[in-house]
Amino acid sequence: MRQTYGGRRLQTCMQTRGALRRPAEPLASAAAAGLQGVLSATTGHCQPLFTALQRDLLAWYDRVRRVLPWRALPGEQADPYRVWLSEIMLQQTTVQAVIPYYARFLERFPTVEALALAPLEEVLPLWAGLGYYARARNLHACARELVAQHGGRFPRDLEALKALPGIGDYTAAAIAAIAFDQPAAPLDGNWERVVARLQAVTTPLPTAKPLLKAIADDLMPAARAGDFAQAVMDLGATVCTPTKPRCLLCPLQPHCKATAMGLAEALPARLPKAERPTRHGAVFHLWRADGAVLLNRRPPKGLLGGMMELPGTPWLTRAPDEVAWLAHAPARASWRRLPGTVGHTFTHFHLELGLYVAEHAATAHEVAGEARWVDPADLGKEALPSLMTKVLKRTLASF
Ligand code: ADE
Ligand code: SF4
Repeated sequence: MRQTYGGRRLQTCMQTRGALRRPAEPLASAAAAGLQGVLSATTGHCQPLFTALQRDLLAWYDRVRRVLPWRALPGEQADPYRVWLSEIMLQQTTVQAVIPYYARFLERFPTVEALALAPLEEVLPLWAGLGYYARARNLHACARELVAQHGGRFPRDLEALKALPGIGDYTAAAIAAIAFDQPAAPLDGNWERVVARLQAVTTPLPTAKPLLKAIADDLMPAARAGDFAQAVMDLGATVCTPTKPRCLLCPLQPHCKATAMGLAEALPARLPKAERPTRHGAVFHLWRADGAVLLNRRPPKGLLGGMMELPGTPWLTRAPDEVAWLAHAPARASWRRLPGTVGHTFTHFHLELGLYVAEHAATAHEVAGEARWVDPADLGKEALPSLMTKVLKRTLASF
């Protein structure tokens, strides 16, 4: 009989009972639905639905799966909007850090339509602190495109998903697998580590990436792809950890080449990282007589695009130059340099910012362009990157 299962058309070999979309009981779910094998297109023989490795990992997941707010309960289908939102958030930080952001975001924007209707200025503050604001801007653009082009629904197809703003290989595969049970492997750091160890791949990352992706796609089962994908993520987070993997507790230990060879902790191998350069700059906290602080909106494109900041100098790799810096001050005032600097590490460079503070005599001061005065009590409502939160903690304390 023909079935669509896990996004694939499969010729199944056992009598099936009822709807097969997602069996309510995940334990041996395929068997519960009467689906125990697939007919091989090449040999014509009935093959088991899951390999031993897939069965072992799924059984482990059914026992110990983490309960996470974006995860469907056993037997339920995940909501693509929630899967997408959580995957974009999780690309930049840990599960624990994401949970409160995810809850706030979902409460304010419960659907793709709600997100698409909101102006970007309402989205960015809910992202503030997560980093990589380009992702928030893409998230918003993607919601608008989904509504405009796809009737507010996520396409199931990998290529159609990848054509959307901010959705690359990883996110497309994660949505296809977790929301639509399609056998695409979302290759993140956890997956890379688990796959490199399972097959004892000694080629260093990032060179090994295409090889690991091919092995990973091959590991995906024809059914329960979403559970399998998240099982690998959970295994990578709790058992097959970067250091001290718990091979003795691992459901994949009988299938794992690295542990057999004593290589588990040494893999995956990595090429040495390039040193991060340091950039230098300064920011200016102008304090108006009524207490307001002058903030500037960064240009929409580029690092921290569209976020708010204290006005400042460009960030240069040269040694700091105080005289040149003061030429960038937003007003004539008696600027006072605070001792020390505030450091912040971005993906591609480390930044050290000098801090200047000054009081501004007038209560009204005309400001140009994207700058505006903000009451310190309202700073929480602004889209301030963590870097600026660090800076403001220091400058506000100095007055
Ligand atoms: N990390 C990235 N995506 C995840 C997910 N869906 N579950 C757990 N950890 C994750
Ligand atoms: Fe990772 Fe060890 Fe399990 Fe292999 S046996 S997958 S190295 S935890």
